Amino acid sequence: MAKNKTTAEILAEARAQDGGGRSAPSAADAAPESEVAPAAEVPAESEPTEKPAAAPAAKPSAGKPKSTSDILARLRAEKGGSKPAAPEKKAAGKSPAPKKAATATSPAATGEKQSPLEMLKAMREAKQAEAAEPKEVAETPSGPKKPVRGNPAAKRKSAAKAEVPRRGFLVACLMAPLVLVSSPFAAAWTFFSTATAAFSLAMARFMMPNVLIEPPSRFKVGSPSDYPGGTVSTKWKAEFGVWIVNTEYEGKSLIYALFSICTHLGCTPNWLEGEQKFKCPCHGSGFYIDGVNFEGPAPRPLERTAIRIAPDGMLEVDKSQKFQQELGQWEDSKSFIELA
Ligand code: FES
Repeated sequence: MAKNKTTAEILAEARAQDGGGRSAPSAADAAPESEVAPAAEVPAESEPTEKPAAAPAAKPSAGKPKSTSDILARLRAEKGGSKPAAPEKKAAGKSPAPKKAATATSPAATGEKQSPLEMLKAMREAKQAEAAEPKEVAETPSGPKKPVRGNPAAKRKSAAKAEVPRRGFLVACLMAPLVLVSSPFAAAWTFFSTATAAFSLAMARFMMPNVLIEPPSRFKVGSPSDYPGGTVSTKWKAEFGVWIVNTEYEGKSLIYALFSICTHLGCTPNWLEGEQKFKCPCHGSGFYIDGVNFEGPAPRPLERTAIRIAPDGMLEVDKSQKFQQELGQWEDSKSFIELA
């Protein structure tokens, strides 16, 4: 490995590169001792008196490009490892401000000698570190990024990010009914709901059955004088289904009530006043005025209802009781009112 050049050698080379602007080599030889060593060891106040030879070496650097010695002196002064070059102070007219304190591991702090290339390299690295330091601070994440105010691009970007999930939610809401309707689960659920509703309606209808309002079985039909002898009243046929008959039966003048129901198959016969008989329109059965059958398919006489004179003197008919002639029930006093 090549041996590192000393400061004196570097300065000698630099002066040699200057091209003999100075004729006295003895000054160049003395310069290393007078420019470098005293610059690091002797205070700046004593330089003008103790080292006059150093002044001519520093003067050329004021008007020309800096030599290696000037650069070296300036670097050492900036590094702060030693009292730097007084000539540069004089040439600049002001003292350079110390930039940074040397770290404990730096060569200046440890007292090791550095080559100019190493020092330049260290300076570049220090400057690059200083230049990069604010960027690192600025780029250090301190939390969620906030949108920059007044930046339209940032606003549009954040608005687009917020709009995407909102639009997706709306689409999902619109498509949900279609998905449900088209799925087998939705069809089954619809069928179940319809069946349940129909069953509920049927149960409600079952709990409210049809009510057939029938006339009362017991009712009053007026005074006995309203029914003259030998007559059949059809006044209550349509409303109560009975005839009121005043006639003689077995030698007695009686008032009784006959059901208007044919004993054949239940049709409603008609009273024929001209023929003095009840005639069934269905199969032609005929009945006398007393109710006894005499023609047609009717197997037996018409039936009587219960009748009585109420406490108010009115005739009261009770259809809840019936009396059949073939059974001898017409003999029951409840089936007629005997007139005096
Ligand atoms: Fe009256 Fe047949 S129903 S005759």
